[in-house]
Amino acid sequence: MLTVEGLRSRYGRIEVLHGIDLTVASGEIVSVVGANGAGKTTLLRCLSGVQPVSTGTITFRGDLITTVPAHRRAARGLAQVPEARQIFTNLTVEENLRLGAYLFADERVDKDMAEAFAMFPILKEKRNLAAGGLSGGQQQMLAIARALMTRPSCLLLDEPSMGLAPILVAQIFEVVKGMKALDVTVLLVEQNAFGALSISDRGYVMETGRITFSGAAAELVADPRIREAYLGI
Ligand SMILES: Nc1ncnc2c1ncn2[C@@H]1O[C@H](COP(=O)(O)OP(=O)(O)O)[C@@H](O)[C@H]1O
Ligand SMILES: [Mg+2]
Repeated sequence: MLTVEGLRSRYGRIEVLHGIDLTVASGEIVSVVGANGAGKTTLLRCLSGVQPVSTGTITFRGDLITTVPAHRRAARGLAQVPEARQIFTNLTVEENLRLGAYLFADERVDKDMAEAFAMFPILKEKRNLAAGGLSGGQQQMLAIARALMTRPSCLLLDEPSMGLAPILVAQIFEVVKGMKALDVTVLLVEQNAFGALSISDRGYVMETGRITFSGAAAELVADPRIREAYLGI
């Protein structure tokens, strides 16, 4: 589904990704976990096309997309849920969902919206309210539902659990796990390593712009070095 090879990226003169290699197979949930500042958001922004890549390649469903503009990546089925959700707080819940579907004809949008409301009944209840009035957890659900309106084959999720109360964190991870049933492949980046790895098939640990460990999620959770450094166990 997604292959990243030797990816480097910089802000001005400062390189923050120093050669990232990773793969995500169709149907997998893969996590990239690491501390604040490791470069997780920069990596996702390179993948969605809003951050320039200095060297290296990104292949999506067999096509090289390293220099393809962001909107074309979205149209090909690569959708990003950005850090801090970035929903339109002054628009209603329904308007936010319609924006997610701007590429498509209306009948299809109505059907997709009905599916989104079936998945997230609370959003249906609040469909005509301003999105800014939703709780943090509901806003995260709206951000995910909006991304699904593009019918992605692969979803890039940037710290969906950030800033949420523990019970909502668990709910959001359940939603992410549910992407398997929808046949949506997931690349998830998280500081909440334990939560992310718990719902993932495989994981990568990122430290200051490099991948330092990778493997089956269950193996990573069981690794004493990772337990000590990232899981606080
Ligand atoms: N817009 C920016 N300009 C300059 N440096 C940035 C910018 N955004 C992030 N950085 C730096 O890049 C590094 C990686 O940041 P980021 O990708 O946001 O990490 P993470 O998402 O893992 O917390 C950090 O050192 C951060 O300070
Ligand atoms: Mg980040």
